[in-house]
Amino acid sequence: MEKVALITAASRGMGAACARELARRGYRLVLMSRSQDIHALAAELGADALQGATDNPDDLRKLVTLAMDRHGRIDALVNNTGHPKKGPLLALGDDDWHAGLDLLLLNVVRLLRLVTPVMQAQRGGAIVNLSTFAAFEPSARFPISASLRAALAAFTKIYADEHARAGIRINNVLPGYIDSITQSEETVAAIPMGRQGTREEIAKTVAFLLSADAGYITGQNIRVDGGITRHV
Ligand SMILES: NC(=O)c1ccc[n+]([C@@H]2O[C@H](COP(=O)([O-])OP(=O)(O)OC[C@H]3O[C@@H](n4cnc5c(N)ncnc54)[C@H](OP(=O)(O)O)[C@@H]3O)[C@@H](O)[C@H]2O)c1
Repeated sequence: MEKVALITAASRGMGAACARELARRGYRLVLMSRSQDIHALAAELGADALQGATDNPDDLRKLVTLAMDRHGRIDALVNNTGHPKKGPLLALGDDDWHAGLDLLLLNVVRLLRLVTPVMQAQRGGAIVNLSTFAAFEPSARFPISASLRAALAAFTKIYADEHARAGIRINNVLPGYIDSITQSEETVAAIPMGRQGTREEIAKTVAFLLSADAGYITGQNIRVDGGITRHV
């Protein structure tokens, strides 16, 4: 039986790389992002697509409905999303933080409310959330992302506890500086590997975590960062 995967924020960058990698591995895909570019990628991969936003609860509902109408099951979910506002820590306003919550944490909570009953009925499923290395080593460059993705790690751990016995696994991938965004020479020089990571390297880690090869891994935060994080 072909496995069905949902991928959000999939029109380019790491999300699109995940879509290509999972298509190569034989998944049937249901993709979402805001722009019509998502339809071009879906056509290339033989996938279904919805134009919608991760911070819009109605769009998340439509995504799950599309997947269930088309395939009647959901085996894998990749929760990718967009970029929150950046700025000096105390200059970011309440609106920026609330928007970040919708984009980086409630996107996952809301989609899992919809997908979990489907996976429970199937007696299994696998979920990967794309997070950031800054979730555990916060950087002033990304205040909202670092703060709310630390919260995502806590949410993920509790979700993993509650659903492990139902055969549902969930993990976070914590990318370092990835080539979907070009960094300065100074930033690249601080990476032990001396280069940015590739989107494909992230996608292969995501695909591994979704696969049976990762069958005993749940509730974890997997750093894919060329060694940039320091804690052991
Ligand atoms: N690149 C890095 O070095 C890095 C490192 C750590 C973490 N991250 C995180 O990883 C995520 C993806 O990064 P990336 O570098 O792959 O980004 P990217 O190349 O800029 O691509 C972003 C993707 O997200 C979609 N998108 C943006 N806002 C959306 C929304 N509200 N709803 C649905 N789709 C949305 C975009 O498509 P549309 O415009 O069509 O919506 C696009 O497909 C981000 O959350 C970022 O914070 C990135």
